[in-house]
Amino acid sequence: MSQTVKGVIARSKGAGVELVDVVVPDPGPNDVIVRVQACGVCHTDLAYRDGGINDEYPFLLGHEAAGIVETVGERVTHVEEGDFVVLNWRAVCGECRACKRGEQQYCFATHNASQKMTLTDGTELTPALGIGAFIDKTLVHEGQCTKVDPAADPAVAGLLGCGVMAGIGAAVNTGGVSRGQSVAVIGCGGVGVAAIVGARLAGASTIVAVDVDDTKLEWAKDFGATHTVNSKGTDPVAAIQELTGGFGADVVIDAVGRPETYEQAFYARDLAGTVVLVGVPTPEMRLELPLLDFFGRGGSLKSSWYGDCLPERDFPMLVDLHLQGRLPLEKFVSERIGIDAVEQAFDAMKAGSVLRSVVTL
Ligand SMILES: NC(=O)c1ccc[n+]([C@@H]2O[C@H](COP(=O)([O-])OP(=O)(O)OC[C@H]3O[C@@H](n4cnc5c(N)ncnc54)[C@H](O)[C@@H]3O)[C@@H](O)[C@H]2O)c1
Ligand SMILES: [Zn+2]
Ligand SMILES: [Zn+2]
Repeated sequence: MSQTVKGVIARSKGAGVELVDVVVPDPGPNDVIVRVQACGVCHTDLAYRDGGINDEYPFLLGHEAAGIVETVGERVTHVEEGDFVVLNWRAVCGECRACKRGEQQYCFATHNASQKMTLTDGTELTPALGIGAFIDKTLVHEGQCTKVDPAADPAVAGLLGCGVMAGIGAAVNTGGVSRGQSVAVIGCGGVGVAAIVGARLAGASTIVAVDVDDTKLEWAKDFGATHTVNSKGTDPVAAIQELTGGFGADVVIDAVGRPETYEQAFYARDLAGTVVLVGVPTPEMRLELPLLDFFGRGGSLKSSWYGDCLPERDFPMLVDLHLQGRLPLEKFVSERIGIDAVEQAFDAMKAGSVLRSVVTL
């Protein structure tokens, strides 16, 4: 028996979001219904609303969520009813060419629910990042559920499902930041600040935060940046070099994803250093640089998809560190809002007045 619950959709390009009735089918053999307790509002939800990801409207938005497993399909073994889980968009398949060569963090064929949730007239919804969690109950594949310690606040734990994991992982997994290194992070929104947290966790000794907004730089400092640079008035490349003995940082993370920030990251790193691109560019963006500089500066230029995370390895570990007081994830939650306030949360995001708004249900 399917059930009808309230969910937030984007019906068409240029329109705001709507809270509507959504039909959640019974779980297929490997599917699970999760009662959503909290879901963060991520930049990617806004990109879906505006048609920046694809044109497969209507979208069921929300993908940074935690909740309780309510019903499981007949072949589900990975979780049980009552488990507290964080939802992930990397349910590793084990079969694709990335998985077969042991690089599950790149899995090219992650699992999703076997059926689509729909509107009451039967129109299929495209769930954001294969999840769709601004809704009372959502249908996902069992592999999209990662069990974590239920002592954690759902509003906090859910953030690991996307932006916070992407940022921490950009530093720790993709950038491979280690003890004593110097790190610079360009763009200090939720993802960039999480990269600062990751760099600190890994033992970086110098952490330079760069943004164009002084409020973000204050927050960055609070999360562990050792130095801040407002790149509106100061050349960030020169500033980062000066703060690192004249050389540049070992790892520079671009958490904005624009040609000018990437160029800054490219030149602000030391010889043989690493650039990590975790911010997502738009299709029209272009970059032109002397090819000789790619050779002459050496090192590695990497992109970070979802912080190269493995949810089953990383989510429980990060929740445990948080519960031990070693990872201040609670500070990412700027406000808790109702499910009818997603549009206002997008405005707050655009105005730069929040790190994360979290819908609680
Ligand atoms: N790679 C992934 O898997 C992944 C996952 C989640 C989000 N993202 C992407 O990460 C990016 C950041 O997300 P967020 O949630 O932190 O966004 P956000 O809007 O909260 O933060 C962006 C920050 O960049 C700053 N900024 C803007 N232009 C700048 C410039 N020219 N120089 C310096 N700083 C500048 C803003 O002031 C803001 O603080 C987005 O592109 C998002 O789509 C990537
Ligand atoms: Zn795979
Ligand atoms: Zn996201």
